[in-house]
Amino acid sequence: MRPIQRRDFLRLSAGTTAAILLSQCSRSRPQSTAPISAPISAPISAPIQFQKQTSEGGLLSLDLEAKAQMVQLGNRRANLLTYNGQMPGPLLEASPGDRVQIRFTNQLDQPTNLHYHGLHIPPTGTGDNVFLEIPTGESHTYEFEIPENHPAGTFWYHPHYHGLVAEQLFGGLAGLFIVRGALDEIPEIKAAQEEFLVLKDFALDDGGNIADTGHMAAMTGRVGGLLTASGQINPAIAMAKGGLLRLRFLNASPSRFFRLSLEDHPMHLIATDGGAISSPVELSDVVLAPGERAEVLVQGNQKPGDYRLINRPFNPAQGGMMGGTMGGQNSDRAETVATLTYDGERSEISLPSQLIAVEPLPEPQTTRQFTLNHGMGGGMMGGGMMGGGMVFMINGRAFDPNRIDTQVMLGTVEDWEIINTGSMAHPFHVHTNKFQIVSQNGQPMPYSAWKDVVSVSPGETVRIRMPFRDHTGKTVYHCHVLDHEDRGMMGILEIQQA
Ligand code: C2O
Ligand code: CU
Ligand code: CU
Repeated sequence: MRPIQRRDFLRLSAGTTAAILLSQCSRSRPQSTAPISAPISAPISAPIQFQKQTSEGGLLSLDLEAKAQMVQLGNRRANLLTYNGQMPGPLLEASPGDRVQIRFTNQLDQPTNLHYHGLHIPPTGTGDNVFLEIPTGESHTYEFEIPENHPAGTFWYHPHYHGLVAEQLFGGLAGLFIVRGALDEIPEIKAAQEEFLVLKDFALDDGGNIADTGHMAAMTGRVGGLLTASGQINPAIAMAKGGLLRLRFLNASPSRFFRLSLEDHPMHLIATDGGAISSPVELSDVVLAPGERAEVLVQGNQKPGDYRLINRPFNPAQGGMMGGTMGGQNSDRAETVATLTYDGERSEISLPSQLIAVEPLPEPQTTRQFTLNHGMGGGMMGGGMMGGGMVFMINGRAFDPNRIDTQVMLGTVEDWEIINTGSMAHPFHVHTNKFQIVSQNGQPMPYSAWKDVVSVSPGETVRIRMPFRDHTGKTVYHCHVLDHEDRGMMGILEIQQA
């Protein structure tokens, strides 16, 4: 337990908003002086290991099965929903120009499907088609190509069957989809040690089953008290002194925000959701809304020892301050997510000074508004308190699979103003195309970055700029607090051939 410290309060008040860009605004010198009494939540466990599936000869081909299975979660046995019996699912790795063939089978006891979060691929047919329903026992082959000009980055896959997304993700269904490319070829980055941290919270009962987080949490957003990093509890990450560590974070939790800092080591941001930024930006902490990714470099220039990667309480609904009402979102404890240790020594690798230029976008042809709010479902959904409870809406309407909410033209650029008039934070996510944040509450961004999720706090307006490129068809945008999405905070976007 840690009482809130005044310096935190000041720093957070100075920061503006809930997304990763908060921490980018409050970038600072190393905060080595801030004492944090985070408990080591568990003994440091073994290093992180993934089962990798990498493309060969231009083809990434695999069988993928969603099924319930007992797995080892740190020091516990847990009955989770898995891909191929693993949590996280296999780490998929491909390069621009590769073909992808995933023979997917649903062995869950409910319908599901797959979404390729962040990939710029067709949203239709056998591509990133979230309108598919794959019933229990049935299979579907996903087949698509990673475009030749696709940026390198940290993407991921997870279920997207409307109404069950939060439940299935909370059960454990998520995996990384890595695209290799120019960022990976920068000499310093190539020489860095790479670690993937899939951050996921769980709530387990005594029998190791997913616990019921309660009716209220199922409305506002379910969270669990057990924090895992790539399926482990407090894994050890060993690096050589003098080396560079490349940490690739994914927040794969359905509702929980993370605010991460690494003791005595500043983190240097090199990539956001959609890939590289143009040069590293030093951060004292990294805030990740559900669905967001960030890549950072850490220099191994401290005394050998153990340094904790700490997640501190974060309440996005209150501008990042603690205390809170988001269905248990925020315990008041800081927790250790992983531990950095030193092992050996090597000749020093410096930080790269240039990364990959972020293309400036032209002025938009159109500006649209999207207002996020919630209400009680009564007449609207016909559910009332019993069946419905809270309904989450965009522009006053809950999701309707038979309605197209927004039509845009291929080849155009638009500004979208996301306005949160409610009382909870909503990480707004768009499929198929990525965007750049233009401003938050009228404040311009300190630098450009490609994003596909941006958190919008209560009372805030965030303006994003998005080019619609290469792919036509129906796709979606939604809140990435997946209980909100399942309860209606999603709309259909149709990209039309000009
Ligand atoms: Cu990761 Cu439509 O979401
Ligand atoms: Cu997505
Ligand atoms: Cu939301």
